[in-house]
Amino acid sequence: MNGSIISWLLLEIFTISIFSDAATASTSAQCPCVDQRSLLLELKNSLIFDTFKSSKLVLWDRSTDSWSGVTCEDGLVVGLDLSKESISGGIEDSSSLFRPEFLQSLNLAFNDFNYTAIPSGLANLSRLAHLNLSNAGFFTHIPAELSRLTKLCTLDLSRVYYDDEPVLNLEKRNLSSLIGDMRELRELYLDGVIVFTKGSEWCDALSSSVPKLEVLSMSFCSLSGPINPSLMSLANLSVIQLSGNNLSSTVPRFFANFSSLKTLSLVDCGLQGEFPHEIFQVQTLQIVELSFNELLQGFLPEFPENGSLKTLVLSHTSHSVENRTSELQLSWKYPKLFH
Ligand SMILES: *[C@@H]1O[C@H](CO)[C@@H](O)[C@H](O)[C@H]1NC(C)=O
Ligand SMILES: *[C@@H]1O[C@H](CO)[C@@H](O)[C@H](O)[C@H]1NC(C)=O
Ligand SMILES: *[C@@H]1O[C@H](CO)[C@@H](O)[C@H](O)[C@H]1NC(C)=O
Ligand SMILES: *[C@@H]1O[C@H](CO)[C@@H](O)[C@H](O)[C@H]1NC(C)=O
Ligand SMILES: *[C@@H]1O[C@H](CO)[C@@H](O)[C@H](O)[C@H]1NC(C)=O
Ligand SMILES: *[C@@H]1O[C@H](CO)[C@@H](O)[C@H](O)[C@H]1NC(C)=O
Ligand SMILES: *[C@@H]1O[C@H](CO)[C@@H](O)[C@H](O)[C@H]1NC(C)=O
Ligand SMILES: *[C@@H]1O[C@H](CO)[C@@H](O)[C@H](O)[C@H]1NC(C)=O
Ligand SMILES: *[C@@H]1O[C@H](CO)[C@@H](O)[C@H](O)[C@H]1NC(C)=O
Repeated sequence: MNGSIISWLLLEIFTISIFSDAATASTSAQCPCVDQRSLLLELKNSLIFDTFKSSKLVLWDRSTDSWSGVTCEDGLVVGLDLSKESISGGIEDSSSLFRPEFLQSLNLAFNDFNYTAIPSGLANLSRLAHLNLSNAGFFTHIPAELSRLTKLCTLDLSRVYYDDEPVLNLEKRNLSSLIGDMRELRELYLDGVIVFTKGSEWCDALSSSVPKLEVLSMSFCSLSGPINPSLMSLANLSVIQLSGNNLSSTVPRFFANFSSLKTLSLVDCGLQGEFPHEIFQVQTLQIVELSFNELLQGFLPEFPENGSLKTLVLSHTSHSVENRTSELQLSWKYPKLFH
């Protein structure tokens, strides 16, 4: 697979994994209260951003009462959405970002941090429940301090994958060292972050650390396999995206027991053996992408009467296409299906 296909795939993956942000713009009169305004203006002054491309920061002004991207509770800043603001620096030295101690949601996605490191001061935001640093231009090691954010529900450090771009990595630490204490985590996006692991220790790390996990998105993370039975305990998983990892594994039958499963994306994973057809019986299942697993076999079974399937991609697998009856019933049961 060449780079352009891979980036196209990831783009696809990103378009289907858009989740609503907790931080929404608010401009009500008492938001933020006077003390917090000074803090925000201090933050604005310390950040380096392109005023022509900024649509939120550029408007922050004590006199005009426009605090786009800021969410408050009782006048206190609880959410900051500074995504897509062309911020290129000034965050490392600025302590003003790390002082709104009530902050629960921080979004710095799609900025241009110019290959600087993720500031370890983020770990001081002890109430943070949602942290989004996706495609923000951060580089090198993910600071060990981030593991102190034990209230996180959503952690997004993902990026669109390009072959030649510098990347984030966990350095010599394992996945447990990052998420080990994040018991509340429900959504984990690490796509494109290099997480070198020994065998399937990443499965053990997930199952022992994040029992409430619903979204597991770790495409192109250099994970190795096989997929370990310990993952079975994460029965609330609704999204499993592990494309572009060499798992050299069979697809576990227990995925069929995940009754909320919506997305199963395992493109180019070195999968082998028979795809468990029971998985197709999960009523909530919408997206199944298995392409580029040349050794993966299977057949199209009887599909559930009122299933939710929308996307089924089996190209470059060894799935049997001889079963015309199931192909036909696929097309009449799921008229909107694209495959
Ligand atoms: C992170 O922010 C970006 C840009 O706003 C958004 O597209 C993405 O869905 C967010 N991630 C999560 C997990 O909400
Ligand atoms: C990005 O970093 C490089 C090297 O450190 C520097 O030369 C360049 O001016 C920086 N660009 C911006 C927009 O800050
Ligand atoms: C984070 O908190 C520690 C200990 O409370 C403090 O020493 C440090 O200066 C803080 N870092 C930032 C960037 O605010
Ligand atoms: C992760 O690394 C720590 C030490 O760095 C070690 O104690 C722990 O057993 C490792 N976890 C796994 C699942 O390998
Ligand atoms: C799984 O989801 C159900 C229903 O939302 C919930 O009752 C249960 O507590 C969840 N399990 C875990 C381990 O979070
Ligand atoms: C995938 O992993 C298997 C087992 O570790 C190895 O034999 C194989 O060469 C790897 N394939 C690729 C494309 O790296
Ligand atoms: C899946 O669920 C079925 C019935 O609910 C049960 O018999 C089976 O043992 C479960 N399989 C696994 C692998 O947990
Ligand atoms: C072919 O499809 C039918 C109906 O969906 C199913 O009952 C049968 O098991 C399938 N046969 C094979 C060999 O795949
Ligand atoms: C179809 O879905 C409904 C609820 O959405 C469920 O009650 C019913 O059992 C399903 N029918 C079949 C045949 O699975």
